[in-house]
Amino acid sequence: MHRIALPSIGTAKAWRETARAFLAARVQPEQIIWGDHAAAPDLFGDAGLPPAGGPVSVPRSFVAMAETAVWHSDPERFARLYAFLWRLKDAPRLMTDRGDGDLARLRQMEKNVRRCQHKMKAFVRFREIGAADAARRSFAAWFEPSHHTVEPTADFFVRRFSDMDWRILTPDVSAIFEQGELSFQEGHTKPDLPEDAGEALWITYFQNIFNPARLMVKAMQTEMPRKYWKNMPEAAFIPRMIAEAPARARAMAEAAPTLPPARMAQVQAQLASHASAWDGPAEELPKAIRACTRCPLHCHATQAVPGEGPGDADLMVVGEQPGDMEDLSGRPFIGPAGQMFDRIAAEVGLNRDAAYVTNAVKHFKFTPRGKRRIHQRPETSEIDHCRWWLDAEIAQVRPKLILAMGATAAQSLTGNGARILSRRGKIETGPEGRPVLLTLHPSYLLRISDPAMRESARAQLRQDLMAAEGMTQSEGQSLGKVTAKAPPAGMPGR
Ligand code: URA
Repeated sequence: MHRIALPSIGTAKAWRETARAFLAARVQPEQIIWGDHAAAPDLFGDAGLPPAGGPVSVPRSFVAMAETAVWHSDPERFARLYAFLWRLKDAPRLMTDRGDGDLARLRQMEKNVRRCQHKMKAFVRFREIGAADAARRSFAAWFEPSHHTVEPTADFFVRRFSDMDWRILTPDVSAIFEQGELSFQEGHTKPDLPEDAGEALWITYFQNIFNPARLMVKAMQTEMPRKYWKNMPEAAFIPRMIAEAPARARAMAEAAPTLPPARMAQVQAQLASHASAWDGPAEELPKAIRACTRCPLHCHATQAVPGEGPGDADLMVVGEQPGDMEDLSGRPFIGPAGQMFDRIAAEVGLNRDAAYVTNAVKHFKFTPRGKRRIHQRPETSEIDHCRWWLDAEIAQVRPKLILAMGATAAQSLTGNGARILSRRGKIETGPEGRPVLLTLHPSYLLRISDPAMRESARAQLRQDLMAAEGMTQSEGQSLGKVTAKAPPAGMPGR
């Protein structure tokens, strides 16, 4: 029997290395007792790591899931992950088996951790603790996460607040950022933090973005569970705002009767005229798309490229049309633009495998030049014809959020073909009233030759992918109902 106690700091790496060693040595799950340092303080105590074995290969999708699920508070998490990994070595397709109970449990754990990370990004409230004349400002926050999320979420705060010193203290693990260096310590008891001058400003902001006409108490409490309220200064005002909401909403309705803009009716009629009537079974949809001859683009392309990803994904990513490599392989976003997307998505923790990735137009449109095929932007009529398939994909996947990359996707999803540069980063309304977050197309970045401009466009795409990741992690949040978005973390303003 092997006993393993994993550290509470660096847990993911320790689990990965330990599991890899056990798997390589073919140690069965029943022969390992996993614990964390709290249960067995002698770190790697009588660990008995097995002698080194041969190389092991593990599907990328498992690694991505384990990297998150390992931070769950369930004491059984290490054992569950290893038991599943053990089964996976003989059945690599297990990762796609939706009926597998063990996988479903791990996916749920992964989701819980991501949700907790999202809450941490949204609800940490910093107070200034440094001397007024110090060279660097210094902040501290107290937070009580449901899972071990401090370490995997700390990079978010480093990116946001790199020019200050800060510490996020929790009963579990604390993150300390000083002079540009991030470190972790064991947990703390709740400190006595000073009142903050910026708090009044924050509360005013919160009260102003509160829209009484859109109040849904249950949805609000799902998004901002009560357990977080005690460490959030603005939460003290919530009961009063809820109590006053009906009267305020009535007053607003009486004061400002409005009609939808005339253009909206035009856009909606246009969208409806091409709406998909395809209602076959989910598993038939890719086949139906591949057989499409609805517009002349099918005459020259190698094949139509249907979307790819989980049929119940929270996030749908929509590009323009397949490129040269996608046309040859039959899979979306695998060429240079897809690789650029993958890199930036990985940087912000957006798991592409968990998203449904597709295109507004399913056939590659090009003009031949010598041996090369040069991409051509699709016409409005081609985009409209292909909405038949995009609508069908949306109706099946029912994503919480659609990310439209580039003007063609934006046009197909919102009916508005206006330039994307002035619209990116914003949420517009798409089919079935679903929220559509607009962003740049990765291939736009590949075409910019000026390094500074390319870097700035890359930062914008990155920011939007980060927003998409954050929005789809919030279970229960009614994205369609969001009226104004609060900054994700409450760093008081100057
Ligand atoms: N560009 C797109 O818009 N989609 C792809 O699938 C590839 C490149």
